[in-house]
Amino acid sequence: MQALSTQAQIAVIGAGAMGAGIAQVAAQAGHSVKLYDMREGSAAEAIEAIDRQLGKRVESGKLDADKRTATVARLQAAGSIEALADSSLVIEAIVENLDVKRKLLAQLEALCSAECILASNTSSLSVTALAAGMQHPERVVGMHFFNPAPVMALVEVVSGLATSTAVAQCIHSTAAAWGKKPVHTRSTPGFIVNRVARPFYAESLRALQEGAASCATLDALMREAGAFRMGAFELTDLIGHDVNYAVTCSVFNAYYNDMRFQPSLMQKDLVDAGHLGRKSGQGFYSYAVDAQKPSVDELSADCQVETCVVEGSLGAAQGLVERIKAAGIKVIQRDGSGLLRAGDAVVALSDGRMACQRSQQEGLSNLVLIDLAKDYTKATRLGLACAKGTSGEALNQVVSLLAKCGIKSSLLTDIPGLVVMRTVAMLANEAADAALHNVGTAADIDLAMCAGVNYPMGPLAWADQIGLPTVLKTLDNLQSAYGEERYRPSLLLRRKVAEGSRFHD
Ligand code: NAI
Repeated sequence: MQALSTQAQIAVIGAGAMGAGIAQVAAQAGHSVKLYDMREGSAAEAIEAIDRQLGKRVESGKLDADKRTATVARLQAAGSIEALADSSLVIEAIVENLDVKRKLLAQLEALCSAECILASNTSSLSVTALAAGMQHPERVVGMHFFNPAPVMALVEVVSGLATSTAVAQCIHSTAAAWGKKPVHTRSTPGFIVNRVARPFYAESLRALQEGAASCATLDALMREAGAFRMGAFELTDLIGHDVNYAVTCSVFNAYYNDMRFQPSLMQKDLVDAGHLGRKSGQGFYSYAVDAQKPSVDELSADCQVETCVVEGSLGAAQGLVERIKAAGIKVIQRDGSGLLRAGDAVVALSDGRMACQRSQQEGLSNLVLIDLAKDYTKATRLGLACAKGTSGEALNQVVSLLAKCGIKSSLLTDIPGLVVMRTVAMLANEAADAALHNVGTAADIDLAMCAGVNYPMGPLAWADQIGLPTVLKTLDNLQSAYGEERYRPSLLLRRKVAEGSRFHD
């Protein structure tokens, strides 16, 4: 079904952070928009705030003055809900409460025409439950924008059990016409983004709890090796621990306490203490004016490495070999099972086993594991872990080799899957399960994670790049090392590996 024409009247209910942003997006796209809030004066104030904010964009040369005037002229504060009767689409962005939203939808159903689409910006309630009991539940749909709505590209178009395909398609096309990147998803807890993103926070939290490294070091690895914009600790400090912890608890509860979503006691402690992050001045980091910038742990190199031996292919880490060659280090290639030898050291990409396990199982002495990097030809830092018997000399040789390539080394405690590898494997696993359960297509899931939370690559495309057998092996090894349900591989991942296929062919 086609997008709503720009002649279609749009209504937005709730003039808070989200409602105001959504109204602005629709008005910028050319619609006449009525904004209503039960608190008198709120809608008018929100329109004034939009005008001021667009004014700043005009001043900085980012927006034409005419566009600002036209956008604001299309926004109108509605004095009553009855004023919304002529709308073709109503988007509610009121308080996140099922009963209050249901009451509002029932009121709208009585008020608006039979063709009017009723959309909810809910981020956690079931669209199926919102529509239950309505005369025409087929016209109720989720239209989940991300904060701030004028900036974030993603819109999750959420179909409840009764939502008609035509309605979901119309909202999808309309969001695209508004310049957004829409994805289709089913009404399941967390939809796509709030579900698939859980391991991003959970794995760093667990690594911290296990003493793998400091927050600053783990964050640096997620940025400089993983190519994420922010690490989990700086990001949750920004989001607010109360908000982030509540989303995790809500997803955990909604999936009947599936251990994959288990909340972190460490984060609960922060919430209990009122250390909510930036907004309270203290989270994992301190935001006090005199706070010192936390230092990132790294090893210094003090030997020369002229040659190394590569046995077989390093798989997902093969780009490192190119980087080593480009640094002028001689690489001798031999057959083998994916090891790199530098002096006494044996280097391997993490496969989800601890270095001590792998050293013992494969009879490798002086083993140094390296963490995953999104692109080894560009990474500026890598995580390392050593088996207990690995000599300081061997570690120094690896650190020196990497330093010559322009890569800093941060040593982690010997935990399974280090930090980037275990996080990306778990993100891909959750994305695979979401695809298995028809929460979205592989393409939509990847798009949602890039456009909704700025991941450098969709988790499924990333798993394809790493190699699905490697991802599966990593998860199997994590599950065996921890003995926990949390790391159980998705059936879809296992099936893809058995078929020899990929998520994106
Ligand atoms: P907010 O608290 O900033 O704004 C809500 C507004 O709705 C308030 O102005 C309030 O006066 C008004 N309101 C409450 N009940 C009403 C009713 N019965 N009729 C008319 N107006 C009513 O909340 P925010 O953050 O804008 O969230 C709104 C919705 O968007 C919620 O469902 C939330 O879950 C969802 N959402 C929030 C995101 C966020 O990052 N804040 C992101 C995506 C979705």
